[in-house]
Amino acid sequence: MSRVLSAVAWPYANGPRHIGHVAGFGVPSDVFSRYMRMAGHEVLMVSGTDEHGTPILVTADKEGKTARELADDSNRVIVEDLQGLGLSYDLFTRTTTGNHYGVVQEMFSTCLRNGYMVEQTSLSAISPSTGRTLPDRYIEGTCPICKYADARGDQCDNCGNQLDPTDLLEPRSKINGETPRFVETQHWFLDLPAVADALGEWLDGREASGTWRPNVIKFSQNILEEIRPRAMTRDIDWGIPVPGWEDQPNKRLYVWFDAVIGYLSASIEWARRLGEPEKWRQWWNDADAEAFYFMGKDNIVFHSQIWPAELLAHNGQGERGGEPGAFGVLNLPTEVVSSEFLTFGDAQFSTSRGHVIYVRDMLERYGPDPLRYFICAAGPETSDAAFTWADFVTRNNSELVAGWGNLVNRTATMVAKNFGEVPAAGPLEEVDETVLATVRGGFESVGSLIERHRLRAAIAEAMRVVGEVNKYLTVTEPYKMKDESQRERLATVLHVALQCVSDCNTLLAPFLPHAANKVHAVLGGEGEKFPMPVIEQVEELEPDNGAGLTTYPVITGDYSATPAWEPRAIVVGTPIAKPTPVFTKLDPGVVEEELARVAD
Ligand code: MF3
Ligand code: ZN
Repeated sequence: MSRVLSAVAWPYANGPRHIGHVAGFGVPSDVFSRYMRMAGHEVLMVSGTDEHGTPILVTADKEGKTARELADDSNRVIVEDLQGLGLSYDLFTRTTTGNHYGVVQEMFSTCLRNGYMVEQTSLSAISPSTGRTLPDRYIEGTCPICKYADARGDQCDNCGNQLDPTDLLEPRSKINGETPRFVETQHWFLDLPAVADALGEWLDGREASGTWRPNVIKFSQNILEEIRPRAMTRDIDWGIPVPGWEDQPNKRLYVWFDAVIGYLSASIEWARRLGEPEKWRQWWNDADAEAFYFMGKDNIVFHSQIWPAELLAHNGQGERGGEPGAFGVLNLPTEVVSSEFLTFGDAQFSTSRGHVIYVRDMLERYGPDPLRYFICAAGPETSDAAFTWADFVTRNNSELVAGWGNLVNRTATMVAKNFGEVPAAGPLEEVDETVLATVRGGFESVGSLIERHRLRAAIAEAMRVVGEVNKYLTVTEPYKMKDESQRERLATVLHVALQCVSDCNTLLAPFLPHAANKVHAVLGGEGEKFPMPVIEQVEELEPDNGAGLTTYPVITGDYSATPAWEPRAIVVGTPIAKPTPVFTKLDPGVVEEELARVAD
């Protein structure tokens, strides 16, 4: 048993989530966390909405709202989306809380005290026509490294390198195409070269563990070669005030400096709300605790370079030495689990044109588990993957409904009709022993795949086991055992089948938790066997320190009753009624219907 931090990327509070977002950070982190709890680990799963910086300002401008209004509206919708999907956060909070502000300012001050924040004059972009500062993301130009023509002022999406706007060749404003004017301004820079050796050692150690996806570790090692100081403050008025610069409200901490600290501040907020304010330390200060970070590939640099650099600087573990602050020596990531992108395969959809599929529409029309299934079985685990409606419908109908749903349904129907309760088994035959052993073996094979973040293989393996149980029914033919002389054999086969269904349900629960609770009910169980997250409206802990919140919704939950990852004997005599179907078959017409919704 060990402590496991599930650190899930913080979605920008700039609108509702589409299915690509939750395919990258959401569902994979939840499957892992649910499984790890079942396997007996103490999991702390945290995240929240990322509410500062240019992405929020850009959208707020477009929608004619203030940043605060947009963040509030988006936070509420995102909380509903993620809770609806069943993502089992211990705490899903936000970056505009007083607690977060305090933790971020403490991190900044400690990095500064340790000598890793250096003040530098740099050039900041101004719009010649309006005189306003142009945030990095409002500037585009040619990447100086790979010559990609549409690189952004903060990052090149083609080669993945971080950039400053002044690096761009032929920079232009995204707003009106004009050439920005650069003026001198003071900023705090994180001295990344001073922690580069420590970062390199840490990455080499992680590479040796052999657990990271090869492209993620290689990418992270490569970008070390280009390492240089990076500004951690910005000319912007929406962000966390810079300690010592309170008299300069137009300078704030850089959104990425603050957002990654959210993993720590959310852990602290969770402990405070629990009434055990030091409990977070068990996940952060204990060197044996493990930390897994989940995100899409555009976030790798921030999790394998910027965040570990902040941690090293805070801990005093770079070449300038230093002492950790009040938070103590903080753990670096054990693994950065990055997925690729989920693309929209139907021509009607396109992320760049804003034609996307929203999580809430999926939830309303089809419920959470068909989407969870699609993401696990066909998601962008190690290469980009496309969502198409045809594929979604096929997987739902031929795998969920015809495979798993059908097994549950026909087993329970036969039991209800013939016995009305879980029958006792007579002597087992070889065919019975074999199928039971196959299902038992699933706990090892499926579990070790989930532990290694290989969800596609893991769910395929679980479905292979389901297929073996379906075959068992085909071979033993209990539906033909109508004669009284066959009653004992019928009871045995149905007992074995029910046992298999119950254990397959455990195997599938991390992927399909809502369905798992329904199957649990079909098997005569009561209550929510697999715990679900809830939304709670909470009071701001430090109203004087944040961005003016008073109360806000969080996702939380009590997952302590999570069942163990092991076979569990079914109880003879438990009443079994005629089941209602667990999954719904979709009419193939759904494909046309969905495509027709997109006007273009
Ligand atoms: N909001 C960022 C994005 O959507 C992700 C932030 S993750 C965290 O790309 F590191 F800041 F937590
Ligand atoms: Zn580039």
